[in-house]
Amino acid sequence: MAQQVRGVVARSKGAPVSIETIVVPDPGPGEAVVAVQACGVCHTDLHYREGGINDAFPFLLGHEAAGIVESVGEGVTGVAPGDFVILNWRAVCGTCRSCRRGRPWYCFNTFNATQKMTLLGGTELSPALGIGAFADKTLVHSGQCTKVDPAAPATAAGLLGCGVMAGIGAAINTGNVGRGDSVAVFGCGGVGDAAIAGSYLAGAHTIVAVDIDDRKLAIAKQFGATHTVNSKDHDPVEYIRSVTGGNGADVCIEAIGNPTVYRQAFEARDLAGTVVLVGVPRPDMTIELPFLDVFGRGGQLKSSWYGDCLPSRDFPMLIGLYLEGRLDLDRFVSETIALDDVEEAFHKMERGEVLRSVVVL
Ligand SMILES: NC(=O)c1ccc[n+]([C@@H]2O[C@H](COP(=O)([O-])OP(=O)(O)OC[C@H]3O[C@@H](n4cnc5c(N)ncnc54)[C@H](O)[C@@H]3O)[C@@H](O)[C@H]2O)c1
Ligand SMILES: [Zn+2]
Ligand SMILES: [Zn+2]
Repeated sequence: MAQQVRGVVARSKGAPVSIETIVVPDPGPGEAVVAVQACGVCHTDLHYREGGINDAFPFLLGHEAAGIVESVGEGVTGVAPGDFVILNWRAVCGTCRSCRRGRPWYCFNTFNATQKMTLLGGTELSPALGIGAFADKTLVHSGQCTKVDPAAPATAAGLLGCGVMAGIGAAINTGNVGRGDSVAVFGCGGVGDAAIAGSYLAGAHTIVAVDIDDRKLAIAKQFGATHTVNSKDHDPVEYIRSVTGGNGADVCIEAIGNPTVYRQAFEARDLAGTVVLVGVPRPDMTIELPFLDVFGRGGQLKSSWYGDCLPSRDFPMLIGLYLEGRLDLDRFVSETIALDDVEEAFHKMERGEVLRSVVVL
C-alpha cells in the first residue's frame, strides 16, 4: 500500500521550501522504496528552488543520501530489503550509444522510477535529480541504489551520492589529476573541497584553493590545499602562476558555476592543461573567451557531470578509503539537522557558514 511520509517541497520559484505530506507508491517493476537515513544539502537543491534547473515545480528536494532498502518491486535482483545503499543519479542503462561504446559514466539514458510520488491531492512531484530524499522514504529505480559497507555511517556515506563524488571525480576522473600535478580549485564548498581531497588522494603536488571567504580557505587546507588565495583581495590568476613557476596549474577546476570565475580558471591553466567545469551555471549565463587562446593554449576544456563517476565502481571504493581512514568524509559534515531545517540550511549555505548541512532522519 502507498505510504504517506514527510518531505521537503519547493512549490514555486524562489519561494521558501515547505514540509509536505508525500505519497510514496509501492515499488513497481525495477523500483525500490528506500528509508532515507541521511541526506546532505547540496547547492543544486537551492538551484532547483530558484528555478535554475528547470520549471517542473513542485520539486521534492534532496538528492545526496544514504539509507536502507525497505522494499523492492518485481524483477529486482541487484538489491534487497535491508541493504545499506547510497542513492545515485546515474543508474546506467547499459544499452544507449554511450554505454555500448564502453563509456557508461556518460550514460545518456539513466533510469529513474517510473511511478510518481505525489502530494496528498495527487499533484505529481519532480524529485530532484530523480531522487527526492529530503523525505522519510523515497521511490527510486533499483539501479539508483548502490550497496556499500554498512560500517560507514549514513551521514558520511550519503555525501558520495552527489557533491563529494562530483568533486572527487572532477579531479580524478574528468581532470585526470595524477602524481606531481598542480591543481587549482575555484570555490571551496562541499564540491570544491572534495576536488581538493581527490587531488590530494591522487598525489597532486601543488593544490591551490581559491575562494572569497577566508573561513572556506581555512577548511580547504584541512582537505589538502597547499596554498590558498582570497580572490576578493588578490588576483587568483597571478597568484596561481606565482606558485607554479610562472606557468599556471595543470588542472583548474571551477566548482561554482560563475562565468567570471570560469575565465579565471581558463587563464590560470598551464599550456596544454585542463579546465574542468563542475559548478552548475544558470540558464541566463554566457561566457566570452579569446578564441585564439582557446586554440593556442591547447589542452582540454571539459565539463564534469557527477564527476564522471560510475557509482557501482566508485562508491564502494571511496567508502573503502573512508573506512581505512584515508578519505575524511566526516569533515564535510558541518552540522546535522532535521527536515524542518532545510530552508535555514540554504541560508547558512548562502552566508558561507557550512560545507554540508546533513538532514538526519
Ligand atoms: N557537476 C555536478 O555533477 C555537480 C554536483 C553537485 C554540485 N554541483 C554544483 O557545484 C557548485 C558548488 O556546489 P557546493 O554545494 O559546493 O556549493 P557551496 O555554495 O557550498 O560552495 C560554493 C563556494 O564557492 C565560493 N564562491 C562563491 N562565489 C565565488 C567567487 N566569485 N569566487 C570564488 N569563490 C566563490 C563560496 O564562498 C563557497 O565556498 C554548485 O553550482 C552546484 O550546483 C555540480
Ligand atoms: Zn546508457
Ligand atoms: Zn548535488
